[in-house]
Amino acid sequence: MTDKSVTLGVNGSNFNYPVLDGTVGPEVVDIRKLYAQTDMFTYDPGFTSTASCESKITYIDGEAGILLHRGYPIDQLAEQSTFMEVAYLLLHGELPKKGELDQFTYTISRHTMVHEQLATFYRGFRRDAHPMAVLCGVVGALSAFYHDSTDITDPEQRMIASHRLIAKMPTLVAMAYKYTLGQPFLYPDNSLTYTGNFLRMTFGVPAEPYVVNPIIENAMRRIFILHADHEQNASTSTVRLAGSSGANPFACIAAGIACLWGPAHGGANEAALNMLREIGDVKRIPEYIARAKDKDDPFRLMGFGHRVYKNFDPRAKVMKATADEVLAELNIKDPVLDVAKELEHIALNDEYFIEKKLYPNVDFYSGVILNAIGFPTDMFTALFALARTVGWVAQWNEMIADPDQKIGRPRQLYVGATQRDYVPCDKR
Ligand code: SDX
Repeated sequence: MTDKSVTLGVNGSNFNYPVLDGTVGPEVVDIRKLYAQTDMFTYDPGFTSTASCESKITYIDGEAGILLHRGYPIDQLAEQSTFMEVAYLLLHGELPKKGELDQFTYTISRHTMVHEQLATFYRGFRRDAHPMAVLCGVVGALSAFYHDSTDITDPEQRMIASHRLIAKMPTLVAMAYKYTLGQPFLYPDNSLTYTGNFLRMTFGVPAEPYVVNPIIENAMRRIFILHADHEQNASTSTVRLAGSSGANPFACIAAGIACLWGPAHGGANEAALNMLREIGDVKRIPEYIARAKDKDDPFRLMGFGHRVYKNFDPRAKVMKATADEVLAELNIKDPVLDVAKELEHIALNDEYFIEKKLYPNVDFYSGVILNAIGFPTDMFTALFALARTVGWVAQWNEMIADPDQKIGRPRQLYVGATQRDYVPCDKR
């Protein structure tokens, strides 16, 4: 809290609103009393200037291209941390000591299996169902299986539900992939790392042993960490809003998955690789740059631009380096990577992109790596959801524990018809 305030003059009266400051980043004007005092709402479609909550989890400086999780820079975490370490950090606020990490990893590993009835649930879908459609259904359905962790007023139940969601997402995502192939589901193997276990459930078969490739395991570790959390983005805000009504955590995460699916958000990784493949050759890049700049053409460069970053998305930098490393280590030549690099180079030197501060975001290079590892494009957003579950769960816990939190209920600027009387059909 600062002793600063701002004054708003309304109809000849002055109203003062306190200015609150965080540890870093923009101050906020506390307008909670605005409507009661002035009978006016603020108007901020898309919440471009609105802080919806207080949080200690993730800080983004969009102008400087900085991303911190509990104060730790994303590039340091991606380079030196494990996904279990980052999950603990996001949930509990501090990097775990060895004993804490071992206990957390053990706890998560003991929740990796899912109820056998859930496997039957998958069989209700068409084999060509989009994995995100399956996840929306299956994750929401978890609340039908785990009644003992849906009382959100009980901190112990909240933590069990959190552990279950973090632990079961890799199993559920791998099952969604196996189902599209018509291959049998593999049970988790708790002797593997979180990432290694996911790779085995995804690419392994019961007919032979699966050996986790360390290059791929390291790439997936980084990709999961880069996607773990990102402040109050659309899907995280969806989870918080759903949670503010007291909905159970499984339903809240299913709501987050549904929101993430959109091509303007997590669906952009799938759309970006499809776009790069459609471009196909560096010679066709100018045609697509022109379309992206054409106001009459709805086409946008997928994987470019961001609501907050008006500089490089720090995750895109790590992702680009990882793409180079993984393709080299796997000895894969993918012309799409050349198209991506040339497209980035041309766009970043084009006045339109410079003026609008459009840079590659986390989704621009991730598809190149995921494709090299062997994932089909329709699995990309499911992988994003897998990783983002730790962030959603951390933010949901923070919201529930926030004494200021209440049910989210925005208002509106009404521009519809004023009151009028009903006209019977034969008189219209
Ligand atoms: C994610 O919020 C998060 O943190 C999300 C995320 C996370 O980790 O949770 O980071 C993950 O969702 C990354 C973003 C993935 N989406 C895409 O790559 C889709 C393509 N990008 C855009 O659709 C767009 O950039 C958004 C949706 C990401 C951001 O849109 P904004 O902030 O609402 O900005 P805008 O749509 O108002 O665009 C501003 C201007 C517009 O031009 P004008 O109307 O001002 O003339 O920039 C233009 C837009 O037309 N523009 C683009 C563009 N993105 C914005 N023009 C061409 N290509 C693009 N990609």
